[in-house]
Amino acid sequence: MSKLWSGRFAKSGAKLLDEFNASLPFDKKLYAEDIKGSIAHATMLAKQGILTDAEAASIAKGLLQIKQEIEDEQFVFDISHEDIHMSVETRLIDLIGEAGKKLHTARSRNDQVAVDFKQYVQKQTLIIVSAIEEVIEVLLSLAKENTTTLMPGMTHLQHAQPINFGFHLLAYVSMLKRDIERFESSYHRNNVLPLGCAALAGTPHNIDREYVAKLLGFDSVSVNCLDTVSDRDFALEILFNCSTIMMHISRFAEELILWSSYEFKFITLSDEYSTGSSIMPQKKNPDVPELLRGKTGRVNGNLIALFTVLKGLPLAYNKDMQEDKEGVFDSVETVYMSLNILKEAVRTMSINKDRMKSACEVGHLSATDLADYLVQKCDIPFREAHFITGRAVAHAEQLGLDLSVLSVDELQKVDQRIGNDVVECLSLLNSMNARNSQGGTSTKSTCKQIEIFEAWIKARG
Ligand code: ARG
Repeated sequence: MSKLWSGRFAKSGAKLLDEFNASLPFDKKLYAEDIKGSIAHATMLAKQGILTDAEAASIAKGLLQIKQEIEDEQFVFDISHEDIHMSVETRLIDLIGEAGKKLHTARSRNDQVAVDFKQYVQKQTLIIVSAIEEVIEVLLSLAKENTTTLMPGMTHLQHAQPINFGFHLLAYVSMLKRDIERFESSYHRNNVLPLGCAALAGTPHNIDREYVAKLLGFDSVSVNCLDTVSDRDFALEILFNCSTIMMHISRFAEELILWSSYEFKFITLSDEYSTGSSIMPQKKNPDVPELLRGKTGRVNGNLIALFTVLKGLPLAYNKDMQEDKEGVFDSVETVYMSLNILKEAVRTMSINKDRMKSACEVGHLSATDLADYLVQKCDIPFREAHFITGRAVAHAEQLGLDLSVLSVDELQKVDQRIGNDVVECLSLLNSMNARNSQGGTSTKSTCKQIEIFEAWIKARG
């Protein structure tokens, strides 16, 4: 069959054009959304008396048969049909004849592709959100087991203050919670029906867009047709949300890589989620977190690619916009896969608590506690207390000791005002638990944070 739009053409297009022009190789992924959108459109056309009930029923039956053919891998995809929309429509006309030719009444591929793509984005958003919830649950249960597990908190990748491992994990829970909120906020903002805008200016047919919105689960109908067929903000938003969550995953991945090195040895990744070397028999490599970190680059690229495609496009639809889909498919699939494997890698890794604790014993992690002690117990202004503590650290370094084990005698050589009670505040566990302010690292505060996250998850149902 010739192309659906071939009426004004004297010659058929070149094969090279077909290959260059077609989106079918990738947009066939949208077949279910395309068919759902078309059934809703036909149902509305019948309600409005634009099609007869019999025509709409025959269209719906034909479309469901096509869906089955695609799922049974019986459908013949032919690149000369350009995209999934015209592939389905052409097959529908083959199957049911005249009624099939009426389906495209009051519709253009411009609003059709928008509704298909948007349905896909909305559906994937919900799938990603539940995958994030599963990662959060794994992190929360690990956090619960580790609210007293000391580890060095760092800034500049240098030892800073003792924290507990659970508290560290909750930082990632916080990020993932924001990710869920971001995906959901995009979902709600974009849950607006584009179909019914036709090519760009609306249609003279008496359509009922509210009804179609209801059939397809959209909350409302877009206001301006010209914007609607030009708009890909929903695609940009999911790409941005994917990039943001991948950035979070990548930071975590980076820590997993560091922690599994011999130098840190804070964790051991399970054999199930580690790889070996083809030449060095002793190697056990953290390929999973490395790939998580690496894939983030591609996901970021997809976001920038679509921004670049869209900038400078005049209203309304331009074929450039066909470039919107592959990056979104890729980012969505990458994020989904990344969340699933991250969940398993974390669930199966072991925590080397002793190693984490001994890492706290170097780097003078309780130095801030000594400064705070001088402020609280000796009424010394913080700036001066900071200086005195710096001298105590230098003294400890000279003795080859960590500040946390320096004797009171030695500390008094630095400043006479230091009393015997300093010992308690220099202990690493006490130092961690002293940070009991809201959101702090103390075990008590960490448990409170776990409660907050658990209540949040529970309330989501
Ligand atoms: N395959 C096209 C796309 O993905 C569908 C819309 C085509 N519209 C048009 N007027 N050529 O964007």
